[in-house]
Amino acid sequence: MKITNLIENVEINFIEDFANDILIGLSSKVKSIPSKYFYDQKGSQLFQKITSQNEYYLTRKEFEILEKESTNIAMALEEDEIDLIELGAGDGHKSILLINGLINKGKKVNYYPIDISKEALIQLDQNIKPSSQLKIHGVVGEYISALKHLKSISTNRKLVLFLGSNIGNFDRTQNQIFFKKLWKNMNDSDYLLTGFDLKKSPEIMNSAYNDSEGFTADFNINLLTRINKELGGEFKEELFEHYGSYNPILGAMESFLISKITQSVFIKSLNRTFFFEENEPIHLEYSFKFSSTDIQYLAKETGCSVIKDYKDKDNYFTDSLWQIKKETKDEQ
Ligand SMILES: C[S@@+](CC[C@H](N)C(=O)[O-])C[C@H]1O[C@@H](n2cnc3c(N)ncnc32)[C@H](O)[C@@H]1O
Repeated sequence: MKITNLIENVEINFIEDFANDILIGLSSKVKSIPSKYFYDQKGSQLFQKITSQNEYYLTRKEFEILEKESTNIAMALEEDEIDLIELGAGDGHKSILLINGLINKGKKVNYYPIDISKEALIQLDQNIKPSSQLKIHGVVGEYISALKHLKSISTNRKLVLFLGSNIGNFDRTQNQIFFKKLWKNMNDSDYLLTGFDLKKSPEIMNSAYNDSEGFTADFNINLLTRINKELGGEFKEELFEHYGSYNPILGAMESFLISKITQSVFIKSLNRTFFFEENEPIHLEYSFKFSSTDIQYLAKETGCSVIKDYKDKDNYFTDSLWQIKKETKDEQ
């Protein structure tokens, strides 16, 4: 695969953006760190370990859906050649199921995996190989700016993939805005396949985000290690603990790092010391959960029709296939 960094400024500004986001996040009244910074090399490897844990049903359920339904999804698309643009592709181990489904139905696939993490695309490179039916062009960049960039390259009907419940990282207002940005950057009749984790018993979700091997805890703590490495932070990782829990009012899993003691932490590239009280949380991630009604509402609000919700046998997860609807006004 050619991993092209087409959006050069994204990479060039990465450290600056990271530093700005950490400054804003750690100097706010309720401290936070954006979850998009989880995925450095170690974070990407830890995420792979999380996904192989028994408790972490999300990846397994979506894998089950794509294994069972890829051919049906391929048959729902009329076109013989598809530009498959994947947002936050990660290691691509589920995407390959859909790609094979499309190819087996005789379609040509031009695959554009987008990820903010170069390490994720390097892992994807091990899992998916080009062929006469499959062209691959990876892009290191942010979801929307990379999609905007691809608009000038992609000339066929698009299928935009947003798997793994990444959409859950946005809150209810942000996800509406995000889908509208996608809609604006896609053409009439293009397709969108999004993975939504469905609302279920809090007990099941709480164990998924608190695996017994402690990989989720290591994954969260790794954010501090990353700040130490890339921004000259002086976090002592052992002085923070992971806490993850479902908030039924919000309908979201929330994860935090909690400061075990009162402490101050200096970050060199910001020339600033941050103060933490004992038991003070740093908010890291939302993982919003959805009902079928939420999904129908989002599709309608976005300007899409739902072609089909593909679910696993336990109704834990759905990959929802939508089609973009735009009005055309005939010129007289
Ligand atoms: C939870 S993983 C899921 C990976 C894959 N979609 C799956 O279902 O297994 C999230 C991926 O999205 C990427 N990501 C997170 N925020 C991003 C952003 N704002 N722009 C582009 N990629 C992003 C991460 O680097 C990571 O590889």
